[in-house]
Amino acid sequence: MTTVARRLGDAPAPESLDPAERMSVDELRDLQLQRLQWTLRHAYANVPHYTRAFDAHSVHPDDCRELSDIAKFPTTNKADLRDNYPFGMFAVPQDQVRRIHASSGTTGRPTVVGYTAKDIDDWAGLIARSIRAAGGRPGHKIHNAYGYGLFTGGLGAHYGIEKLGATAIPVSGGMTPRQVQLITDFAPDVIMLTPSYMLTLLDEFARQGIDPTSTSLKVGIFGAEPWTEQMRSEIEERMDMHAVDIYGLSEVMGPGVSQECVETKDGLHIWEDHFLPEVVDPLEADGRGRALPDGEEGELLFTSLTKEALPIIRYRTRDLTTLLPGTARPSMRRMAKITGRSDDMIILRGVNVFPTQIEEIVLRTPGFAPHFQLELTTQGRMDALSVRVEARADTPAQRRETAAAELVRAVKESVGVSVACEVVDPDTLERSVGKLQRLLDRRER
Ligand code: DLL
Repeated sequence: MTTVARRLGDAPAPESLDPAERMSVDELRDLQLQRLQWTLRHAYANVPHYTRAFDAHSVHPDDCRELSDIAKFPTTNKADLRDNYPFGMFAVPQDQVRRIHASSGTTGRPTVVGYTAKDIDDWAGLIARSIRAAGGRPGHKIHNAYGYGLFTGGLGAHYGIEKLGATAIPVSGGMTPRQVQLITDFAPDVIMLTPSYMLTLLDEFARQGIDPTSTSLKVGIFGAEPWTEQMRSEIEERMDMHAVDIYGLSEVMGPGVSQECVETKDGLHIWEDHFLPEVVDPLEADGRGRALPDGEEGELLFTSLTKEALPIIRYRTRDLTTLLPGTARPSMRRMAKITGRSDDMIILRGVNVFPTQIEEIVLRTPGFAPHFQLELTTQGRMDALSVRVEARADTPAQRRETAAAELVRAVKESVGVSVACEVVDPDTLERSVGKLQRLLDRRER
């Protein structure tokens, strides 16, 4: 991966941190163990799925005497939530559930998650902590363009903004021209949205003839989809603000499971007082989730430590990352920026390809806009991958051809596969208003 020079922001005052952010590793591990034992007992006693799964693995909550005992317990995946649709995974009576969210997924039943009043309060606290780590402060105005509704992004961020003591501007996604107008008129300090939607807003600034570096924005908090260091530089330069990463998933809580600190921008600190991470070998056949040591890339698993309505044990996120030691918050481990989801991995003639690898190359190739699409087709009996990428408005026709050749060569050299590259006119690819789907799978079945 190429290194990109980073400009760093100011750390929050130490006294403004939550007590958990200042704990020693030993204190944190003690707290995690206590909370893990509670979670395992709560899940086993109240969720029939966990009673059955633990019994089938001949394991009981009392078998958890230290944190590493988590590996004895079965993993949970999306299919378990779907099989128990809609409320079968809930561990509290319905009258204690204050809110429901769901993730749509592309096919089949949505996965449904629930929160007690305490869960919502804990979540708001973690978002407030995340925004503070990103450089947001009480009194700031925060433009929230994550979608409101069943998606956890909008309402999740909203409650955290208020909890921080900042001002929420609940814009939600869409109506792009109005977003630009509100940023200009309301002068927010912070913006929260997907990185691909930020690119759409940047186009809109250009269309309205407004210089995006002239806005009041100091920080953008970007998540809900993978993005690269190259994308960080693109956004930081074009907006003249800090761009930091927020991660989460509805099954584990929503946004705010981990957050990058603006003073280091070196991956996301996992809020380990509420979530226990593991990284396992994604390819092992028996599905038990064999642990990998910190520092090795694999599939990220989470166990919730405080959630009442939907305790989740060893949830297989399908997201690929590496666990790293803490920096800005020394006792909390970091996760490297997500490389991609194992579901989005393209296996092309035996080589694994992630859209983020292509993103890095597109963004460092002069002449290309940051808008591209990947298309998989069948050619003869083989799969073929084509990168369709927009030229920047000022790119001469001749440069388009050489840029395409450079991209093909760079993909061959750094990823190890042959792809085709088609350069299209500016403003021709579909724009994102939320999570962007980069891959079009047009293979013959
Ligand atoms: O996307 C929650 C969220 C909202 C996170 C807003 C951050 C900001 P889901 O819809 O359940 O929840 O999708 C979760 O999105 O498993 C990842 O594959 C992906 N994802 C989320 N954040 C990041 C990120 C929300 N920072 C799925 N980098 C996860 C890469 C991310 N992928």
